[in-house]
Amino acid sequence: MTSHRIALVPGDGIGREVTPAARAVLDAAGTRHGVRFRYDEFDWSCERYLAEGAMMPADGLDRVRHHDALFLGAVGAPGVPDHVSLWGLLIPLRRGFRQYVNLRPIRVFDGLESPVRGARDVDFVVVRENVEGEYSEIGGRLNRGLPGELAVQEAVFTRPGVTRVVDFALDLAARRRGKLTSATKSNGIVHTMPFWDEIVAERAAAKPEVDVESEHIDALAAKFVLDPGRYDVVVASNLFGDILSDLAAAVAGGIGLAPAANLNPEREFPSMFEPVHGSAPDIAGRGIANPIGAIWTAALLLDHLGHAEAAAGVEGALAAVLAKTRLRTPDLGGTATTVGFTRAVLDELGGAR
Ligand code: NAD
Ligand code: IPM
Ligand code: MN
Repeated sequence: MTSHRIALVPGDGIGREVTPAARAVLDAAGTRHGVRFRYDEFDWSCERYLAEGAMMPADGLDRVRHHDALFLGAVGAPGVPDHVSLWGLLIPLRRGFRQYVNLRPIRVFDGLESPVRGARDVDFVVVRENVEGEYSEIGGRLNRGLPGELAVQEAVFTRPGVTRVVDFALDLAARRRGKLTSATKSNGIVHTMPFWDEIVAERAAAKPEVDVESEHIDALAAKFVLDPGRYDVVVASNLFGDILSDLAAAVAGGIGLAPAANLNPEREFPSMFEPVHGSAPDIAGRGIANPIGAIWTAALLLDHLGHAEAAAGVEGALAAVLAKTRLRTPDLGGTATTVGFTRAVLDELGGAR
């Protein structure tokens, strides 16, 4: 039997509520498909920061370097500034493990109402650059408290950094419906984007089987709402991809639905799987978080570890519960709990509880 070692970081807020759902689904899918998961759980979180002064230990990356994958719930809690929780945990993991692709698929499931009228046949993937771009470490705040106070941050786009994510997106598009949309802002204002566009054009020329278009980020955001069915793969810089992926999730019904995979495609390091949403302090502790994003993320993990059939089974079970039942968590207008919805998915997966 194949066996995998997974590092679980439930994190904060609803991260702790949706991670058990993902774990139960991994176990159930594993039982069906002859895969065994072993877990090591880490308490890296804002609570740890408040108790010990650090989100994770200094050798945190070394402790999970040899796991087959990481699953992260969410980080962030009131009382701890976000820059502490993010630069202290999430960003070092993504960067330290060179997870330069953030893969964020979305689809409108049958039985789920999209807030967008007529949104049907929506099935696309945002490929977000995940380690550079607008989220650079160059810059800071100056003259705090003075009248001339200012903040600067240099966006850093490197040729290798853009090339590798664009190539990943082109390959993915070639395996899907053959269409790639590049999110840009090339109309002369932002210096980095004509550079991005040049690399997209060069790499697209090497992959003629993919139909490549570029759209300005502002117009693209509007088209995500007006005509979301036209997209297949969308490649975007770090910040553009962040915004587009929440927008895409909203088009599909809400941000609690959306999964994400932070991938190190070369597999030099473990990849990290986490739903798109955050720790949702406004609903944390009530047992009503939508587990769909986390469960779908578990499917991405299965796929990454070579279990495509098991992954399809999990996505199919989610789709079946949404199509056959009225079970919905409150963010989708229902009264189901996290545990109740997850139980239905487990039942659908075949009595593996
Ligand atoms: P958020 O995603 O936590 O919440 C936004 C809104 O969506 C809230 O109203 C929340 O209740 C709702 N929501 C999110 N996920 C849901 C789910 N699964 N089910 C039902 N409702 C859900 O974003 P935010 O409010 O901008 O950020 C809150 C905290 O999370 C901050 O500290 C932020 O830094 C952090 N954050 C972390 C990650 C991550 O760990 N990957 C991602 C985004 C935000
Ligand atoms: C996400 C989150 C993070 C990001 C934040 C919390 C830094 O919004 O994973 O989408 O912007 O990458
Ligand atoms: Mn985000």
